[in-house]
Amino acid sequence: MRYRNFGRLGWPVSEIGFGAWALGGSWGPQDDAESVAALHQALDLGCNFIDTALAYGNGRSERVIARVLGERSGGDRVYVATKIPPAPGAWPPGPRDDITERFPAAYLRAKVEECLRNLQTDCLDLLQLHTWTRAWNRAPSALETLRELQREGKILGIGISTPEPDQNALNDLMRDGWLDAVQVIYNIFEQDPAAELLPLAAEHKVGVIVRVALDEGSLTGKFTAGTQFIGDDFRQRYFAGDRLARTVARVEKIRAVVGDREPDLAAAALKFALKPATVSTVIAGMRNPEQARRNCAVGDLPPISDDVEQALFAHQWRRGQWYDGK
Ligand SMILES: NC(=O)c1ccc[n+]([C@@H]2O[C@H](COP(=O)([O-])OP(=O)(O)OC[C@H]3O[C@@H](n4cnc5c(N)ncnc54)[C@H](OP(=O)(O)O)[C@@H]3O)[C@@H](O)[C@H]2O)c1
Repeated sequence: MRYRNFGRLGWPVSEIGFGAWALGGSWGPQDDAESVAALHQALDLGCNFIDTALAYGNGRSERVIARVLGERSGGDRVYVATKIPPAPGAWPPGPRDDITERFPAAYLRAKVEECLRNLQTDCLDLLQLHTWTRAWNRAPSALETLRELQREGKILGIGISTPEPDQNALNDLMRDGWLDAVQVIYNIFEQDPAAELLPLAAEHKVGVIVRVALDEGSLTGKFTAGTQFIGDDFRQRYFAGDRLARTVARVEKIRAVVGDREPDLAAAALKFALKPATVSTVIAGMRNPEQARRNCAVGDLPPISDDVEQALFAHQWRRGQWYDGK
């Protein structure tokens, strides 16, 4: 496993981080024993960065992580990033939402205490706000509260996760020095962060956590137009209607580009996300030990070649773009 520097916080973080959303639920049946085994496997392979959130099963994901880290106490340093969701309302927040209603100071303080309890620690490594709107960039009062919590020793670093429709929503906050880390979608379909977010992060020494590098599984190439998502799997909505068929058709074109130049599509997708030097870690979702083995192995492979990366640039997909038709 290779390690990269995590922005101004200076942590040596593993190229492949552990995305722990599915450990909390919303992905169909998920057995805690399987989650525990997956996380142990990833940590055994040198993964030292875990991303979770209070919202993942109302603390379930955080509690599973605390259990695993408790079983390994005294082992290598592992960095855990968690997130606080806004108080109930639109997700992502709308342009007229009031930050003092969605992230009031007392609410943030209470939620930090909840994360500390779930994670069985007295200081959070990285606390991220789970979503955001650029409407709040001029007066980001919630970040003042997080800075107070930082001074009080409750959190080491401050981050925000981008709202899905706007990967550039945090750029001004980076320029203004508010953030130690950002969490962003950067994958073969979503390439917008290359324009401004990544250069800004490098300039301002902000750690970059890339999420959804596998497009919720589609970029592994394992889905067909007939794939069914069972139980509470949120992908029933994400790939609703004709979205799955349209996605699969695009993935097949990507498969043709990659050919035998990478071990498989999942490895190509993770390596694409890792290619920019400014990216600190790519948090791949892993639900079982086999996925942990395959994803962590990417941290030992050579980087994707410039040729393959260039060829994949053409597969950017602006999903909100209507002018091109479907
Ligand atoms: N707003 C936010 O802040 C936000 C939003 C989304 C995600 N995240 C974070 O980012 C992390 C990563 O994103 P994600 O988990 O949503 O999506 P992802 O990494 O794009 O996809 C993960 C899913 O793909 C499948 N998979 C993973 N490795 C595989 C492999 N080698 N071969 C075949 N299938 C594989 C697994 O699901 P199946 O086996 O069920 O197919 C897994 O749950 C999350 O866990 C979470 O920590 C944050």
